[in-house]
Amino acid sequence: MSGIDQRRDAVLAAIVAAGPEGVSGEAIATQLGCSRAAVHRHVAALRRTGVAIVGEHGGYVLGDGADPIAPALIAARRSGPLRGPVHWSPTTGSTNDDAARFARDGAPEGLVIGADAQTAGRGRRGRTWVAARGDALTFSVVLRPSVSPIDAALLPLVVAVAVADALGPDARIAWPNDIVIDGRKVCGILCESSTDETGVAWAVAGIGLNVRAAPTLTDARWTAGAVSDGRPRADLLLAVLEHLGQRYQQWLDHGAAPIVAAYAERDLLAGRGVTVALPAGEVAGTGAGIDEFGRLRVIGPAGERVLGSGEVVRVEWDG
Ligand code: BTN
Repeated sequence: MSGIDQRRDAVLAAIVAAGPEGVSGEAIATQLGCSRAAVHRHVAALRRTGVAIVGEHGGYVLGDGADPIAPALIAARRSGPLRGPVHWSPTTGSTNDDAARFARDGAPEGLVIGADAQTAGRGRRGRTWVAARGDALTFSVVLRPSVSPIDAALLPLVVAVAVADALGPDARIAWPNDIVIDGRKVCGILCESSTDETGVAWAVAGIGLNVRAAPTLTDARWTAGAVSDGRPRADLLLAVLEHLGQRYQQWLDHGAAPIVAAYAERDLLAGRGVTVALPAGEVAGTGAGIDEFGRLRVIGPAGERVLGSGEVVRVEWDG
């Protein structure tokens, strides 16, 4: 991140931290060791990226409904394992692409790359991921799990459990890792990794969480929903990062069992009729949880099938 971006982040952090009282340009300038004119220029640049800041040199305050992410404040409030730098930009193509680039260049585990808007957000199975500027949290976390490539298959479910933890008791998981509240998909997760036969060089956990409003989904299986629980985006981001750190550490320390157990408590498909599309055709049966590799267990007329890939295309909600 350039020095200018860091200074802009620091100006935003000062305005967010000041709350409804606001803060003068002079106070920010003194705090950051720069001129009032420089503060003014950064405020103008922040406004151009969509951050509602009202007032002038005399006092800056966030506008009504403004819900910005100030990386410096996020970093200061983080706790628990997996704490890395947070980079947040107004717009990018895909935070997963950015995070993968950083990971290939040797970025540390825990690095968070987020954006207020993506122009090329990607979902699973080649779908696009759409969210209006500022309505969602779209971010990706660089991970370097010291597990075998086979065990790494559980990672997308580790992330799902963590996000569900952060969202509260009503959050359910639809295999493999859609987060659903009251029948609506509020979060999608796209994990990507670079592995060889010995291990995982890097992984990226990409999270798209609808916070204030729900977009139209290109995923025909779900209606989109939004969390809309009144929490500012920064609080939700912190909650997700904290739970992700805890679940990730739990997985590395204790293996799959606690994750599989936590998943079971949130499993939207357990006991329901499901149809899973595979390249070779469809498998229908009753959802019976996941195994230690994150594979879906389906009990059908011919016995149990364990599915490592495939797409749940139908769910029987009644009966
Ligand atoms: C899905 O449900 O299909 C997964 C959606 C994942 C979307 C997130 S938004 C942040 C990160 N960047 C991307 O391009 N995709 C993921």
